[in-house]
Amino acid sequence: MDGNGRWATARGRRRELGHRAGARSVERVVRCAPDLGIRTLTLYAFSSDNWRRPQREVRALMALFRRYLRRESGALADAGVRLRVVGRRDRLPTPVVEAITEAEARTSDGDRLLLRLAVDYSSRHVLLEAARRFAEGVSDSFTECIAQAMHCPEGAPDVDLMVRTGGEQRLSDFLLWESAYAELVFSPRMWPDFDASDLTSAVKEFRGRNRRFGRVAAAV
Ligand code: FPP
Repeated sequence: MDGNGRWATARGRRRELGHRAGARSVERVVRCAPDLGIRTLTLYAFSSDNWRRPQREVRALMALFRRYLRRESGALADAGVRLRVVGRRDRLPTPVVEAITEAEARTSDGDRLLLRLAVDYSSRHVLLEAARRFAEGVSDSFTECIAQAMHCPEGAPDVDLMVRTGGEQRLSDFLLWESAYAELVFSPRMWPDFDASDLTSAVKEFRGRNRRFGRVAAAV
């Protein structure tokens, strides 16, 4: 969800304001995703490398996550959305961890959309942790070890479509294993401006792609 900072700076405002506008975009996108046939939506909200940002911005983001989880969990449950926060929990402030636990419990019956918020997430860290579990024999499925390592009991499904906003064209340590055959869509739109029509366009582009998974077209 790139572009919050630039969106705010272009308006002469602090970057934190861009993140607040970005949270409203999250609400919009989550509302329209099920109608587009999306059953799992993973939003990259805070990478493990984002701890390197100025303290003030990190604090504002943590406060925003906590507020979002507290404020939105009822509406998410009503809309049939099950929430999971994927990533490390051991470095998050206690009030954020408490809000995550409550929101996950409150939305646990949701069966319309699995919404995964990636917070303190690093795909490389997950892969190392999964490899450790795999070597210890915790499970004979590596994908299951990944799901456990990222705190997602629902599993670690392959990514069909990855959308990156704000004109960036990188993977940035996001779902590296699961994206082996992901279709990539790069949108120039700053995340706070990203709306239902942008997601619809990305899905339309995805549906037009010829996915072969290594085979020849006729065999797929
Ligand atoms: C990266 O772009 C964005 C982030 C590190 C934060 C993402 C957070 C949100 C969208 C807000 C809240 C989320 C939830 C789930 C309530 P950037 O802001 O660094 O953009 P830039 O490239 O313009 O600097």
